[in-house]
Amino acid sequence: MLASMKHFLQFKDLTRAELEHLFLRTRVIKERFKRYQPYHPLADRTLAMIFEKSSTRTRLSFEAGMHQMGGSAIYLNTRDTQLGRGEPVEDAAEVISRMVDVVMIRTFEQEIIERFAAHSRVPVINGLTNEYHPCQILADIFTYIEQRGPIQGKTVAWVGDSNNMCNTWLQAAEVLDFNVHVSTPPGYEVEPERAGLLSTAHYEEFLDPMDACRDAHLVTTDVWTSMGFESENAERMTAFADWQVDSEMMAAAAKDALFMHCLPAHRGEEVAADVIDGTHSVVWDEAENRLHVQKALLEYLLLGQVED
Ligand code: CP
Ligand code: NVA
Repeated sequence: MLASMKHFLQFKDLTRAELEHLFLRTRVIKERFKRYQPYHPLADRTLAMIFEKSSTRTRLSFEAGMHQMGGSAIYLNTRDTQLGRGEPVEDAAEVISRMVDVVMIRTFEQEIIERFAAHSRVPVINGLTNEYHPCQILADIFTYIEQRGPIQGKTVAWVGDSNNMCNTWLQAAEVLDFNVHVSTPPGYEVEPERAGLLSTAHYEEFLDPMDACRDAHLVTTDVWTSMGFESENAERMTAFADWQVDSEMMAAAAKDALFMHCLPAHRGEEVAADVIDGTHSVVWDEAENRLHVQKALLEYLLLGQVED
């Protein structure tokens, strides 16, 4: 364990300098991987992954990433562990963190992961909560930088629900100094406190999603109903009907604008098929980059600033 142990529970847990380091390391680690060059700095290290919600990308990228770095990953879920039978999260944290070197958790309220981290001897990573999805935004911003250069001063259009993805984009805008144009249906607006924002200076709200997309450098959206909110699905389908990212919105954005979606996507709901499968879309690179940024994150949390 490092003398100064760090968790990654929300995006702003990393400073701008730390993020710049992570993005540089991501590039190095990705290039090595593409050249089939072994890189095993995490030999004998173990990651425990605790899932209280479903996952494809998060599980696969963390598990493959640990394996590729010479370590191993153990998958735990609520159904098959004592967590599902009411063992206090504090007790679970005490025990799990004595047996592994790092923990990733996907759960419901942010408060749960914070309680776990407060009782953990090892770094804890947020693999998605109701409030935030910081690993995904690391991948999204790395993808933007990789394809278009620095994100500072650029405009990101967020169309849809003010959910965990939206909140994390808003935090990232504060840390990395870019702007977010948000358009949500009435009743689903951003809650700055829940988003963990210092101010409202880095975002602007638009009633019409077309206006949010105008001249944006990146247009992004997410499902209308996030995991844990399934009981609201019917009312959300009605409320969000006009918040589908379509080709007209992409035409209003900057000429070389990118389209991103964290996936899984619902074509014909939050995004039109010709947008997610069209020329602006970088969703497959975005998904792949989960692997590379998280390897850089694991390296940083376990080994500090590696420079080789
Ligand atoms: N984007 C994302 O986190 O995907 P999974 O739910 O499949 O992990
Ligand atoms: N907002 C979505 C993201 C899934 C990766 C959810 O929380 O279900």
